[in-house]
Amino acid sequence: MEGRVALVTGAARGQGRSHAIALARAGLDVAVCDLAGPLATVPYPLGTAEELAETVGLVEAEGRRCVSAVLDVRDGAALAELVARTVATLGRLDTLVANAGVISYGAAWELSDAQWDEVVGVNLTGVWRSCRAAVPAMLAGGEGGAIVIVTSTAALKGLGRMAHYAAAKHGCIGLARSLALELAPHRIRVNCVAPGGVRTPMGTSTQMQEAMEADPDLARTLTAALPVDLVEPADVSAAVVWLCSDAARHVTGAVLPVDAGTLLR
Ligand SMILES: NC(=O)c1ccc[n+]([C@@H]2O[C@H](COP(=O)([O-])OP(=O)(O)OC[C@H]3O[C@@H](n4cnc5c(N)ncnc54)[C@H](O)[C@@H]3O)[C@@H](O)[C@H]2O)c1
Repeated sequence: MEGRVALVTGAARGQGRSHAIALARAGLDVAVCDLAGPLATVPYPLGTAEELAETVGLVEAEGRRCVSAVLDVRDGAALAELVARTVATLGRLDTLVANAGVISYGAAWELSDAQWDEVVGVNLTGVWRSCRAAVPAMLAGGEGGAIVIVTSTAALKGLGRMAHYAAAKHGCIGLARSLALELAPHRIRVNCVAPGGVRTPMGTSTQMQEAMEADPDLARTLTAALPVDLVEPADVSAAVVWLCSDAARHVTGAVLPVDAGTLLR
């Protein structure tokens, strides 16, 4: 994939950082962004500006160029500025990995407006705004492209204490399938990965542990079938890189679980 350029959101740490490094290793220059700050209703710390700078260094250590921005994926103007700077600096944009996401916990009828708005705002509206910012540059490049939206097993089944998260992730699949139809004539493919529990600060937070302890049914439905506790970020990155590559040139509108069999339960 030498010569192509990717944008990865939520790349300060966790899966986003892993995807940025894996795409760099596959030959792409990469633009990365992250909120790099807290959100009022998200009960665990989010990425930092220092971590985002480390990601830039790790991409550059793969011999690729990297541009970065501290931004909120709910901010369409900031995304448009980053896309313009990416095209000006790296020459084009072929690939978007819409990865930024957050979670909070509570029964559906007890969630606050602020909890709902932040989770749906980042995980669904932020994904749409990321696509809206990237697609015109991809169309202008005229050589097709790939979008991968990072959803979750929560995009394919209901989960107690996470209704807002599940609703947003289900919504991402509707967005991806619709975009896949709209962009197919331009050879731009749109797919989703659906990770199970992943070993990142989101996946291992004490609040996630507490939610599972409080709800044995939730714990059961989040348990892998394969004999592992969690999926590693690199396992999700392998699927992301494949979906972005020409090896998947006839794959669009798909939802690929990387969940160690969690969905089997
Ligand atoms: N960890 C899991 O168990 C798991 C499972 C399935 C799906 N996912 C999804 O995978 C994706 C990556 O999560 P992760 O596990 O790496 O979590 P993480 O919390 O380690 O990383 C998420 C990154 O996104 C950033 N971010 C959050 N809100 C943002 C915003 N509004 N704008 C820009 N950046 C923002 C955070 O600062 C952080 O650096 C998310 O979409 C998440 O919903 C995670």
